[in-house]
Amino acid sequence: MKAASQSIYGPRELWLRRAFMAGCTVLLAELMWQGLSVDFIAGRDFSIALGLWSMRFLMITAAISPLSRLLRLPSLKRWRRPLGLAAFAFAMGHAIHYLVYAHIWPSALHLLIVRPYLLIGCIATVLLLVLAATSTDRMVRRLSPKSWRRLHTAIYLIVPLSVLHEVMAYGELLGEAGLYCVLTPLLALERWFPGPAARRPRLDIAPASR
Ligand code: HEM
Repeated sequence: MKAASQSIYGPRELWLRRAFMAGCTVLLAELMWQGLSVDFIAGRDFSIALGLWSMRFLMITAAISPLSRLLRLPSLKRWRRPLGLAAFAFAMGHAIHYLVYAHIWPSALHLLIVRPYLLIGCIATVLLLVLAATSTDRMVRRLSPKSWRRLHTAIYLIVPLSVLHEVMAYGELLGEAGLYCVLTPLLALERWFPGPAARRPRLDIAPASR
């Protein structure tokens, strides 16, 4: 691991990142703790809880860029990687848990293709996997800033696919699912019709800003 002095992050940000990782671990432990008492790890509630947390992290990740432009805080963009990785980790947990508890793995895998909401969830997960795999320091250095950025615009596909998956699974346009249905087109609008601040020439192509 890099020493704090060699890191692209300052000591304060390093600690914040560690606190975030610790927070995610505590969150997972807390969800499992609930499961110990009400037997929900073995059932669908645990899977749904992981899916809901994955969605929350995903939406915050997608909102970071517009927020950083709006608040004129470019350093905020450095939070996309830990937040996106948290979204990925919870989505993987959600999918793996479902495959096991619903006995989809290994004999009923065809259901992932014939049930549209599962197929959509799988496509979103595979795309998230690609983004997670290209988020390591090594991959960030290997890809040119332009290709890295182009690849990571896939978040604008992952978000609507995940929202669609959630709405189809939940069956209603209420609560968080409803909120994401409103936020998703707004995020897309901001991306393709950015305000004047976002149209300024890019100077920040250092990996830390991705
Ligand atoms: C980016 C990836 C994914 C995200 C963000 C995600 C998110 C969610 C969310 C938020 C729900 C809860 C809906 C509710 O409130 O009831 C949900 C439900 C569900 N998801 Fe996913 N999901 C993802 C991928 C997958 C994959 C790959 C699978 C299958 C292998 C899957 C299987 C399910 C199932 C079966 C439900 C319904 C649970 C139930 O009501 O019993 N999801 N998902």
